[in-house]
Amino acid sequence: SLLTFWNVAATAQLTVEAVPPNAVEGQDALLPAHSEGQKFYGYIWYKGSQVHESHLIIRHIIRSNITVTGPAYTGRETVYPNGSLLLQNLTLNDSGVYTLQKVDEVLQSQNVVVKLSVYPLLPKPSIRSNNSDPVEGEDSVALTCEPKSEGTTYHWRVNGQNLPEDARLQLSTDNTTLILLSVTRNDTGPYQCETWNPVSANRSDSVSLNVLYGPDTPTISPSEFYFQAGTNLNLSCQAASNPPSQYSWFINGIPQSSSSALLIPNITTNDSGSYSCFVNNSVTGLNRTAVKNITILEPVTQPSIQTINSTVAEDDSVTLTCLSEGHAAVSIRWLFNNEELRLTDRMKLTRNNSVLTIDPVWRADAGLYQCEVSNPVSSRKSGLFRLVVLFDPTRSPGLSGGAIAGIVVGSVAGVTLAAALAYFLYFRKTGGASDGHHLTEHKLSASNHSQGPFENHLSKVDEIAYSALNFNAQQPKSPAPASPTPAASETIYSEVKKK
Ligand SMILES: *[C@@H]1O[C@H](CO)[C@@H](O)[C@H](O)[C@H]1NC(C)=O
Ligand SMILES: *[C@@H]1O[C@H](CO)[C@@H](O)[C@H](O)[C@H]1NC(C)=O
Ligand SMILES: *[C@@H]1O[C@H](CO)[C@@H](O)[C@H](O)[C@H]1NC(C)=O
Ligand SMILES: *[C@@H]1O[C@H](CO)[C@@H](O)[C@H](O)[C@H]1NC(C)=O
Ligand SMILES: *[C@@H]1O[C@H](CO)[C@@H](O)[C@H](O)[C@H]1NC(C)=O
Ligand SMILES: *[C@@H]1O[C@H](CO)[C@@H](O)[C@H](O)[C@H]1NC(C)=O
Ligand SMILES: *[C@@H]1O[C@H](CO)[C@@H](O)[C@H](O)[C@H]1NC(C)=O
Ligand SMILES: *[C@@H]1O[C@H](CO)[C@@H](O)[C@H](O)[C@H]1NC(C)=O
Ligand SMILES: *[C@@H]1O[C@H](CO)[C@@H](O)[C@H](O)[C@H]1NC(C)=O
Ligand SMILES: *[C@@H]1O[C@H](CO)[C@@H](O)[C@H](O)[C@H]1NC(C)=O
Ligand SMILES: *[C@@H]1O[C@H](CO)[C@@H](O)[C@H](O)[C@H]1NC(C)=O
Ligand SMILES: *[C@@H]1O[C@H](CO)[C@@H](O)[C@H](O)[C@H]1NC(C)=O
Repeated sequence: SLLTFWNVAATAQLTVEAVPPNAVEGQDALLPAHSEGQKFYGYIWYKGSQVHESHLIIRHIIRSNITVTGPAYTGRETVYPNGSLLLQNLTLNDSGVYTLQKVDEVLQSQNVVVKLSVYPLLPKPSIRSNNSDPVEGEDSVALTCEPKSEGTTYHWRVNGQNLPEDARLQLSTDNTTLILLSVTRNDTGPYQCETWNPVSANRSDSVSLNVLYGPDTPTISPSEFYFQAGTNLNLSCQAASNPPSQYSWFINGIPQSSSSALLIPNITTNDSGSYSCFVNNSVTGLNRTAVKNITILEPVTQPSIQTINSTVAEDDSVTLTCLSEGHAAVSIRWLFNNEELRLTDRMKLTRNNSVLTIDPVWRADAGLYQCEVSNPVSSRKSGLFRLVVLFDPTRSPGLSGGAIAGIVVGSVAGVTLAAALAYFLYFRKTGGASDGHHLTEHKLSASNHSQGPFENHLSKVDEIAYSALNFNAQQPKSPAPASPTPAASETIYSEVKKK
């Protein structure tokens, strides 16, 4: 039975662990031996996996309480009677494999191996750049994260993000160096490098590159080319540049202010010319110029409408001329009853739109005309001009011949009467034939009315009955709100239409 006991003892399990397995430099680690309560003659610790005197750390004989140190002993190791090894004030060199050899009472030995890793607490890393002021498009920059240490993982961040996929960004195999090929102003950063190992992590301060660039072609604002005489001309010039560019203004080649702003008070047409902004970056040595041709214009004066006769008979022609004092770059447009004049094929604009010819005139052309002249800095409208069209109501496209007894010509005033008259005429009307030849002109005002009770008296074509009142107004009750004050003796016509 004694023999059996020894066999069991000989096979008793011996294990060693490292506590902690990833230890911090400067701190302690214990390599506890678990021997399941067996008695041993002694323990021998070696550095490395080889059981050899040259790697001996310490030898301990339990019974005699004798401890012998070897070449691998540093003075920081302590062995306990239970076989555990305490390592104090760890160095990075303490990383590695340790072998425990146990020797039992009959001097049989058994070896176990344990691995210990020692890592530094990572200091705050710093970024070193091999070029602090790289020039855009010319220089490549190497950023290095320091210090470099074993077992440390390096990671770069730019603008708080992971590095983008970009062929211009290259990492060394250990990730300690980031190379920016041919930097641009967008590579300014900031950059950070992060370090970590199994026991700690740290992060560098942000580092930004001072990428030198520009100037780009400057922009002159405001963007207008025309300015009104009598105002102040206030121009500013901006060019992206690092460091900021020096600015100089030239007018027709003559130097002006040497700042980014140019102010010329109370400009006149003589200030028209070529304005250029010259920018120069003394560090990149580059320069750029922007040129803007500026024209100073007097505001337009009020135009007037001229014609030979403001009263025309239907089917005659009329020519309206918009008179304005001659200005360069003036454009003219025509208004009819306060809206943009819709040109029909009876109308023709000539001489730069200043002459409006209507041939033949239709009764629908009667109304208020205005012309508007404008140049890039101003616009003015003429006064309202009333065109009066005399016509024979028996020829009206909306009425069958003879349906209307006549037109009332008198010296009575008042739209009420005219309306009443038109209403009257409407009832008298028998409906029917229409040659429709003027209808397109009238649809504007005659369309889309709701169906009245007398709708079935009308032909399918919209019919319009007209009544013209001719009266001498002493004190005209202005029929159109925007109407100018006609002369007291002027003849006023009122059109009344009824569907
Ligand atoms: C061995 O002894 C040391 C010191 O007394 C103790 O810290 C350690 O826990 C012991 N190891 C085991 C496995 O009992
Ligand atoms: C073994 O010897 C050391 C000093 O060498 C002593 O401190 C320790 O108490 C001794 N242990 C025993 C169990 O006698
Ligand atoms: C730990 O070791 C370092 C050098 O390796 C030494 O400067 C320091 O004093 C030691 N600390 C302790 C507590 O022994
Ligand atoms: C670490 O070990 C190497 C050789 O393995 C030696 O050259 C170096 O001096 C050691 N460093 C320390 C701090 O013990
Ligand atoms: C980073 O390192 C510095 C010392 O270099 C230390 O004070 C700081 O606590 C560390 N930060 C982290 C997160 O470990
Ligand atoms: C910085 O490093 C990059 C990449 O290695 C290299 O192309 C560049 O010439 C270096 N710049 C300086 C000023 O050494
Ligand atoms: C270097 O960083 C990249 C990602 O940034 C990572 O995929 C790679 O594993 C890292 N390499 C090393 C050696 O840490
Ligand atoms: C910088 O980035 C902006 C916007 O992402 C881009 O429009 C511009 O072209 C870039 N500039 C350079 C020099 O790459
Ligand atoms: C602007 O100049 C005109 C003529 O050059 C002059 O009559 C006018 O008084 C000036 N206005 C101001 C505000 O200086
Ligand atoms: C502007 O740059 C051109 C070449 O880029 C150079 O020839 C010229 O002398 C520069 N002008 C100034 C005023 O720096
Ligand atoms: C400005 O005007 C000059 C002549 O007056 C002309 O040669 C030049 O091309 C113009 N520049 C621009 C930008 O219009
Ligand atoms: C204007 O024309 C109308 C109709 O054609 C005519 O009755 C009138 O006499 C003319 N007036 C002038 C001043 O020509």
